[in-house]
Formats: sequence, C-alpha cells, structure tokens
Amino acid sequence: MAEQPQAIYLKDYQVPAYLIDTTELRFELADDQTLVHSRLKVRRNPEATSAQAPLELHGHESLELCRLAIDGRELDAADYHREGELLTLARVPERFELSCTTRIHPQTNTALEGLYLSGGMYCTQCEAEGFRRITFYMDRPDVMSVFTTTVEADQARFPVLLSNGNPVASGEKEGRHWVTWEDPFPKPAYLFALVAGDLQHIERPYKTMSGRDVSLRIFAEPKDLDKLDHAMDSLINAMRWDEEVYGREYDLDIYMIVAVDFFNMGAMENKGLNIFNTSCVLASPQTTTDAAYLRVEGVVAHEYFHNWSGNRVTCRDWFQLSLKEGFTVFRDAEFSADINSRTVKRIEDVTLLRTAQFAEDSGPMAHPVRPASYIEISNFYTLTVYEKGAEVVRMLHTLLGAELFRRGSDLYFERHDGQAVTTDDFVCAMEAASGRDLTQFRRWYSQAGTPTLRMADDYDAATQQYRLHVEQQLPQTPDQVEKLPLHIPLALGLLDASGADLALAEGATTQVLELTEQRQTFVFEQIPVHPVPSLLRGFSAPVRLQYPYSRDALVFLMSHDSDGFNRWDAGQRLAVEVIQGLMAQYRQGEALQLDGALVDAYAAVLDDESLDPAMVAKVLSLPSEAYLSELADCIDVEAIHLARQFARTELARLLEAPLQRRYEALAPTGVYAPDADQVARRSLRNLCLSYLVALEAPAHLARARAQYDSCDNMTERQAALSLIAHSGFETDAAAVLEDFYQRYQSETLVVNQWLAVQACDPKPGALTRIKALMQHAAFDLRNPNKVRSLISTFCGINAVNFHDGSGAGYAFLADRIIEMNRLNPQVASRLLTPLTRWRKYDAARQALMQAQLRRILDSGELSRDVYEVVSKSLG
Ligand code: PHE
Ligand code: ZN
Repeated sequence: MAEQPQAIYLKDYQVPAYLIDTTELRFELADDQTLVHSRLKVRRNPEATSAQAPLELHGHESLELCRLAIDGRELDAADYHREGELLTLARVPERFELSCTTRIHPQTNTALEGLYLSGGMYCTQCEAEGFRRITFYMDRPDVMSVFTTTVEADQARFPVLLSNGNPVASGEKEGRHWVTWEDPFPKPAYLFALVAGDLQHIERPYKTMSGRDVSLRIFAEPKDLDKLDHAMDSLINAMRWDEEVYGREYDLDIYMIVAVDFFNMGAMENKGLNIFNTSCVLASPQTTTDAAYLRVEGVVAHEYFHNWSGNRVTCRDWFQLSLKEGFTVFRDAEFSADINSRTVKRIEDVTLLRTAQFAEDSGPMAHPVRPASYIEISNFYTLTVYEKGAEVVRMLHTLLGAELFRRGSDLYFERHDGQAVTTDDFVCAMEAASGRDLTQFRRWYSQAGTPTLRMADDYDAATQQYRLHVEQQLPQTPDQVEKLPLHIPLALGLLDASGADLALAEGATTQVLELTEQRQTFVFEQIPVHPVPSLLRGFSAPVRLQYPYSRDALVFLMSHDSDGFNRWDAGQRLAVEVIQGLMAQYRQGEALQLDGALVDAYAAVLDDESLDPAMVAKVLSLPSEAYLSELADCIDVEAIHLARQFARTELARLLEAPLQRRYEALAPTGVYAPDADQVARRSLRNLCLSYLVALEAPAHLARARAQYDSCDNMTERQAALSLIAHSGFETDAAAVLEDFYQRYQSETLVVNQWLAVQACDPKPGALTRIKALMQHAAFDLRNPNKVRSLISTFCGINAVNFHDGSGAGYAFLADRIIEMNRLNPQVASRLLTPLTRWRKYDAARQALMQAQLRRILDSGELSRDVYEVVSKSLG
C-alpha cells in the first residue's frame, strides 16, 4: 500500500525562509499544452530563524519542469531535490532571480484546480493550493508578491485575455495575441487568476466614496449576456454598503467577474478578477428562482467584501481560514439583512447552521473554527469555518455593540493592511478597540462541538424575583476530550401575561446576559408577574437551547414575541414536538393523531394579514427531515418521513379553505420582479400550494398545473413543477417533467434544477430513476454542478430512498465516490458527507454504511481529500 498522507499541524507553523518580492508570469496557451514561464525576485526573509535554510518550492506531481535557473545560470537535476509536492534547493544566494518553465495540461485537468478548461474557456482556481499546479512557487498565503502576468493565446478563439489588476500592454503576431496585466497590490498566490476565452461583458462605472472612478465588468459566454444585470446591481449595492458600514472602498481601476460553468465551489475572490460559478452570478426571471436571485446577491457581495476581509488583509496560514471566511460571511449576512428582511435572512442562516453545521460538529469531521490540524485543507472549507465562524464574529458584535465593533474593525484593517495574519490578531484588534477582555471568548476558536445550554427558572411572587439557571455543556469531539466553559452572549426578553415585554436592565426590553461559567444563576429584580422567557433572541449564540417550554408557552410566544426570530423559533419548537409525538405513535403502531394546538396556531398565523407574507411562509414551513434527523439520537428515516408527511397532509386537510383563500389572494398582480414584496408573496403562495397539493386531489393538482402553464417566471414554475413531479399522479408528473426539459434544455442551470427536482422525489424507485438520469444527455460527471444537482441532492435530501434498508443507495454513492476520486477529489470528498453520519443510524444501516466506507478505503489509490474523510469516519 502507498504511503499514507500525513497531517499538518498549526503548532508547527514557521515563518517562510524566503520572500518573493515580484512575480512575472508568461502563459503560452495552446491546444495540447500550456507553457508557464516565471521570473521571481527572491530574497531571504530577515525574520527567518535560520540563515542557511533551503528554498522550498511547492509543485504538484503533475508539473513537468522544463527549465530552472538562478540568476541566469541553468540548473540540472543535481542542483535540486524533488519529492512529493516539494522541490528543494539546498543552497541559494541571499537575493536572487529564479526563472522557471513548466509544462501543464489544462485540457485534461478534471480536478478543476490550477489552470483548466471550462466549456471552451481557460480559467484558474488557486485557493487553497492550486497555484502549485501551475508553476513551482512558495504556495503559502504568508508569501505575498506583486504579480505581472502576460497571457498569450490564439486570437480568434480566445479574444479575451484577463488577469489580476490593470492591462498595461498588448500585441499580436501571426494569429496569436497577448495582454500583460499588472496588479500593484502584493498578494499570495491563491489570489492569482487568469481567464482566456470568447467572452462578452457588461460594464458600469462606479465612483468610490473618495471619488475614484472604477469600471465594473461582468463577463460570460455570449448566450448568457442577458443574465448579468442582477449581479451588477448587487455588486454596486455591496460596494456602497461596505463604504457606509465599514468605511472600506475599492482600490483598483477595474473590478471584473467572470462566470464559468465548471467550478468546485460557489465563487472565488481573486484580486480584481473574481471567478464565479454560473449558478452564483447568472439571473433572469425566466430561468432563476427568487431564492437563487438572493443567493447571487449574497455571493457577489461576499466576494466583493473579501477585497478587504481576505485580500488586503489575508491569512497567515490555512488554519486561519475563518479569519477571512467567518468575517466575510458575517459581513455578507448583514448586508443581505440590511437590504432585505433581516428576520427572514436570520431564519435561513440559523436553519442551515442548526441542520448542517450542528451535524458536522457532532460527526467524525468535527473541528474547531480554527482547526489544529488537517491532512487536506480543501476538506476544511466547511460549515464550521464559514457559518460557525460567522456566528463567532456575530457574538463579538453582540458583546461589543455596533460602535465598538466598528472601531475594532477599523483598527484591524489599519494595523494589518497588506499583511497575512491570524484569527488572534483579529480578536486582539477587537480587544484593543473596545477595552474588553476577550481571553475566555477566544475558546470559541479552539474548541470544537456545539454547546448545550440547559436552562430552568423560578419565580418568587413575594420578592418579585425571577431567577434563571443556566448550565452550559460542551460535548467531547474527536481529539478533544477536555472542554472549558465558553463566554456566551445570551440575549433574552421576559413577556408578561399580555405578551408585552417587561422592562429589564436600564429599561431595555432585550438584555444580553454573559455566560462565563459552567453553571450560573441570573436574578431579575422587580418582576411583577411570572414571565414567559424569550430566550436566545435572534439566536445570539450557536448553541442548542434546552428549556422546558410548555406547548401553551410556545403558542403564546408564536403570537406575541417582539423578536421575530423567536416567534418563528417557537413555532418550530412546537412543530418539532408535535412531529416527534407522531413518530412515537407510529413506532408504537398507534393511529396517528395531530395535536390541535399546532393546527390552531397555524390557522391564526395564516389568517393574520398584518404579518409579512414571507414571515408567514417561514412560520408555516414544517421543520425539514434533515433538521428532525439532526435532533434525533438515532435517526428513524421512515418515522421522520411519515410523521412529517402526516402532519403536512393533516394541516392541509384542516386548513384547506384558508390555504386556498390565501393562494388566490396572493395571485401575481404585475410583471415579475425579484423585489422583497413580490418575493414574500410568492413564497407564501407557493407554500399554500404545496399544502394543497399534498392532499392529492385532482382539483389542486390542476391548480398547480395552471400555475405551471400560466406563470411568467421560474419561481412559480419550478415550485409547481416539483409539486406535480413529486405527487402520486404519475402521468401528470411525467408530462410536466418532459415539458420542462423541452422548454429549457438549452439552459444548463435550469436543466440542473430539473435534475435536482427528480433527485429529491421521495416516491419509491428513486435510485433506478437516478441511475437512468446519469445516462441522460443532461448529465456530466465532470461538471460539479450536475453532480451536486443529481447525486448530492439524492443522497443528502432524499432520505427515504437513499437510506433504503437494502443498502443500495450506499453502494451507489460509494461507486460514485470511487469514480470521482480520480476525476475530482474535492467533489468526491464532499460527496462523502452522508456516509460520515453512520453513527446516527440503526445497527443494520450502520453496518451497511461502514462496509461502503471500507470499500472506498480499499478501492485503490485515494486522494488526500477522500482518504482524510474516509479514515476519520471509520476511525
Ligand atoms: N474563497 C471562496 C469564498 O468563500 C471559496 C473557495 C474556496 C472557492 C476554494 C474556490 C476554492 O469566497
Ligand atoms: Zn469567502
């Protein structure tokens, strides 16, 4: 067996022995190969410990080294040592010029790291360690260099040649042309980018707050040129917002975004030249749902915000990834909250955190926001680093308040502009600006696992004292047994019998308690009545909250809490309890009986026309199967599915008339626009329709089909499509799927939705349908969006089919992983997620899932990506 990949540890960090002041690159793009010539000005790092350290360059095994020279003197194999990903030069001058030529093959690059072809265009992806697939380099984020890049290619086929910064020269000869780009800001190699293709673009001028003119350009294939306006509007909104809220403005003369079809992630913040997955940038009413519009807006903003939180100030090493990602996710979430509904945005983010991040945090890949070790860094672009990391920044914001937080961020940018730093530097700046001691708070960065808060209370009418008892507990996680108490901001309010907020400290209606000990009691004085507590308002900390709410109290909070998030959460708690009750009835073989309290509560919300329809839609959405699974100690797939379905159908049956009334009343009034008002109306209308169709009555099916046929936008059409496709009316389902494909077969992203709709169809026989779709012209294993739409959706969402007791779903997934391991290790590794959760299932399924993990482990040479996840899952 080949040598097993080794872990890398944060504690082993050492400053780089050399620095690269300037990097000159020349790319000769040709059909069968690309030649990359580099010229680096290198000097010994004055801060390095040893004066005699060797020069270590990273270079992927696939790199063919054609030439290496120091100060013009050619080197041969005796002058260096190449092993694994390292090329070592034992002796180099204190200051020298290193020239290097490598030969690479973008056309066969299916990993989509480094330089590759997407459709017909060349593009790059260098984060985290893709640059080493282009040339030999010190491919680590603490080596920052000024890049000058020349791209040369066939002029007719690749009329557009882009790289970071500004174009400074160009020329042509004999059908080929070249452009030289200069980026004046020193940057690590992971922010390098190059694009060459037959692209068109839209362009808009922007004036920054200090009056500088910037040209904003978004590039795509010609057929998608009409789908770029929303991204452009979003970019401009984001730029203005960052000026207003953080005082940060853009720094180059050009800002470019390029849309590519083949991309492992959502998008990438390369300096001045963002590269985007088409799914995160293209938008048009006919092809894009409201949810996707919001995603485009959020991702465009996210990548833009990275220009400060990521590029101007970057990470010292990859253990610090959350420095840029946690902060930037917090920034984009606040941006979206400011320009859309704050409460709805919070509900969506918390839903993702509580289902997927909590699950990650209790599984074999659990790791702190700042991991202590990794085998493959690509595996650590996780919900923990991103979403929990953002929650940690949000808690700082809560503890410091907006004003001190802003002072802290100003200080952070001022201190560290142009540097590669650590999460601790970020906390230090917050500490210095606010004068607060954040020593204990730092444990959020180093301790993995989701804390549980156990809460209880009592009230003494005689003394008018209300006492709240809190116990925090942090579970053991792999590699971390001992845990220390965290510093947790707990926002709360107390409601009187009428539902009004009682005045708390300094007359406020929401107070932030700071938990610092394992057990604490908080005493509230002069509380006139036994209150109903509204705990963890706005989800002020990423914790599991346990408090013995009665169903009456939950109904009360649903209709009275002044905190919109907690109103929704009370409804979720109630629904969870009710569904768990149904699951118990199912397991005991009893007839299922839905608690009337849920029906009454839903009826009241449905009737309340004063509420924002988007909020109504959120409140009336039952907790997902994934969330119910996360809450379970042992996941009973059938019970969850059946109980939830039963609740849905019963609610629909008992509320049929009001659902129908609201469905009709919310009919579209004008031309489609993805504005807040319309988005809210459509979300509630589609939710009403989903309940109605659940009744499986021909009249409601006809209603869905009418919506499908008559609507003018993808939000309504897609909603109707999936309801009909998942219904028991097989003929109608087949017909609507066929119609949809015929209409949209030339729109890749829409076809991907078509695949996803079929992948999550809960009807029996899904696996057979998935296998057939893999043979369909619409599918392509090399395109990550298609793999996610079909395979990840099936394995991650379609629980009843994927977890079929036969184990066929597990075997299918293992086959795909073994296949993808060779083609695209990053995607293969992400596909593993459902199998890593095996401990949460019954013994029979556990055995079946483990067997597939072992089969993957024994399947031959595994990438570091897949090896790490499989071995940790079995370990
Ligand atoms: N840095 C990107 C972002 O979050 C994500 C990414 C990581 C993209 C690695 C590609 C590769 O904005
Ligand atoms: Zn990011």
